[in-house]
Amino acid sequence: MTNLLTQLEQTNIPKHVAFIMDGNGRWAKSQGQHRLFGHAEGVLSVKEIIKTAREIGIQYLTMYAFSTENWNRPAEEVAGLMDLLVQAITNETDEMHENGVRLMTIGDISALPESCVVSLNEATHKTRENTNLTLVLALNYSARSEITSACKRLAEEVKSGLISLDQITEDSISEKLNTSGIPDPELLIRTSGECRISNFLLWQLSYTELYFTPVHWPDFRKKEFVNAIIAYQQRERRFGKISEQLNDNK
Ligand code: IPE
Ligand code: IPE
Ligand code: MG
Repeated sequence: MTNLLTQLEQTNIPKHVAFIMDGNGRWAKSQGQHRLFGHAEGVLSVKEIIKTAREIGIQYLTMYAFSTENWNRPAEEVAGLMDLLVQAITNETDEMHENGVRLMTIGDISALPESCVVSLNEATHKTRENTNLTLVLALNYSARSEITSACKRLAEEVKSGLISLDQITEDSISEKLNTSGIPDPELLIRTSGECRISNFLLWQLSYTELYFTPVHWPDFRKKEFVNAIIAYQQRERRFGKISEQLNDNK
């Protein structure tokens, strides 16, 4: 098998790729299985994507694992997802640590079951100094509440006289988000055919390239990931300019 990675342009590798991992339920249904079987298979995709990202030299991966809206699913599915999370963290942390992966979370993890909070805190603490790759798990995450909290914190600082109104800038807002210090994603991948953002990284995705694929998350593996990056490399990122200006270095 030819090495898929040789198809990539080495000078144009995204630093940060974000994922909306969708379609576990539909994938399971297509196999005549329970939805949780799809979620378990989805964990294997996460593992393969992390491994591939390390091979490619991507520095940050952000993965939407549970939205604030996902609490509205049947209780049995929510409980199954939480169990799977603890299992995955318990089984994978040592290997991630050996591979220099730093685990972080965004979203309000304090509202997750105690067992999740404990295993996440242990894993994030253990891996905090690692520098090869940062894996950001979005858990109980809502972009609108993230932005709302940032606004409240800035308003407090103005009210108490710590900063002036003029010191509220795009950068100071970014610094108050959960993703403070992490560069914005160059590429967002959503699997399973839905073309929506579902309350994910609304601020950070302002100029991100969006890639939607019909492939369900459990089938999204190395080949699909490399194809998504190839598609990204073919995009022209103009940031408001016109095409002719881009090669001028002006
Ligand atoms: C994504 O797969 C996983 C989570 C949202 C936790 P879904 O569970 O949304 O799968 P579909 O969309 O029902 O197929
Ligand atoms: C988005 O997937 C959230 C995660 C991937 C965790 P959903 O499947 O919950 O999204 P909607 O509600 O269909 O947009
Ligand atoms: Mg879904």
